[in-house]
Amino acid sequence: MARIPVSGPWITDLEVAYAADAARTGWYATANAYPHKFERAFAEYIGVKHAVSLPHCTAALHLSLVALGVGPGDEVIVPDATWIASAAPITYVGATPVFADIDPVTWCLDAASFESCITPRTKAVIPVDLYGGMPDWDAIRAVANRHGLAVIEDAAEAVGSEYRGRRAGSLGDTGTFSFHGSKTLTTGEGGMFVTDRDDLHRRALTLRDHGRPPGDKMFFNTEVAFKYKMSAVQAALGLAQIERVEELIAKKRQIFGWYRERLSNQPELRLNAEPIGVKNSYWMVTAIIDDPQRRSKIEWMRLLGEQGIDARPFFHPLSSLPAYADNPHAVGAPEHNPHSYSVSRCGINLPSGLMLTEADVESVCENVCKLLM
Ligand SMILES: Cc1ncc(COP(=O)(O)O)c(C=O)c1O
Repeated sequence: MARIPVSGPWITDLEVAYAADAARTGWYATANAYPHKFERAFAEYIGVKHAVSLPHCTAALHLSLVALGVGPGDEVIVPDATWIASAAPITYVGATPVFADIDPVTWCLDAASFESCITPRTKAVIPVDLYGGMPDWDAIRAVANRHGLAVIEDAAEAVGSEYRGRRAGSLGDTGTFSFHGSKTLTTGEGGMFVTDRDDLHRRALTLRDHGRPPGDKMFFNTEVAFKYKMSAVQAALGLAQIERVEELIAKKRQIFGWYRERLSNQPELRLNAEPIGVKNSYWMVTAIIDDPQRRSKIEWMRLLGEQGIDARPFFHPLSSLPAYADNPHAVGAPEHNPHSYSVSRCGINLPSGLMLTEADVESVCENVCKLLM
């Protein structure tokens, strides 16, 4: 029996043709042609002035922090329930991550909890559009503006999501995307930094190329920086994917619709939210299970796995991880961030790969419903 994978891309002849062309032609004077085309098409789609292609989203978060001047002694607020990549770059720049709670409906940063974490050392906030969902961006930006904080939107998982007509990635001072192989739009590994600000754009271009200002042909470095560039072959894949982005998002929404039809009448189970004014691109169909038998998410993954169905655990609260055992803000987090802990405790990501069929979803839902009986 073939396993049903938890994620995976949709690659067509277009991606193969562009990647082959890049492999043949993307050298010498044209090495940057595909990256530039991908960046222009991506910026236009998101509705921002600038996009900078990178090897991964982690680099985009790192460059955002450096470009915004975050450094040693500063604090940066992140939601407690997210992938560690949202927070790790805060440590790279010598600052301290502070964990705020999530909203129990959107599973994204809660504005009131964010505000309660602000101290005189707070420099920035990194709201995350988790699993394609959107936080209450108006409330978050109001808090950030009131306290003069920079906003870095981690839209790694949310290409194609919208908040009041604005695309994910366009809601902060900078926005960051991941094109990892599990993502809706993929280049295998890859990422993008986006911004409307000319100063941050120029800074990101300089920082990602060992401190060479844009256009430098003399190998004359003005500072010690990083090497974060995307190759032509990856960018060619990305260009094909962004040309097909509407079809990719439509398929994600169709997959979610198949699940909703079959699972929305299960009172023990809650799926991804789409509040009024939000378009959710549903990167990962996620179920929060109020299991009458009180089985853990790990137990659910094991039981589904026995039926050939791959699932993933909802991200563990960052404050609960050994990686942050020494972080002073992890102390007392279960009381301070109750929603991060309760949602994460019983949440699983169900198969959401783009090649999924309705029959696959039927089989997953049958198994989930059987376990709830
Ligand atoms: C919320 C979030 N932020 C950041 C990242 C980092 O992306 P990358 O793996 O491209 O560095 C991911 C990737 O999985 C993610 O899910």
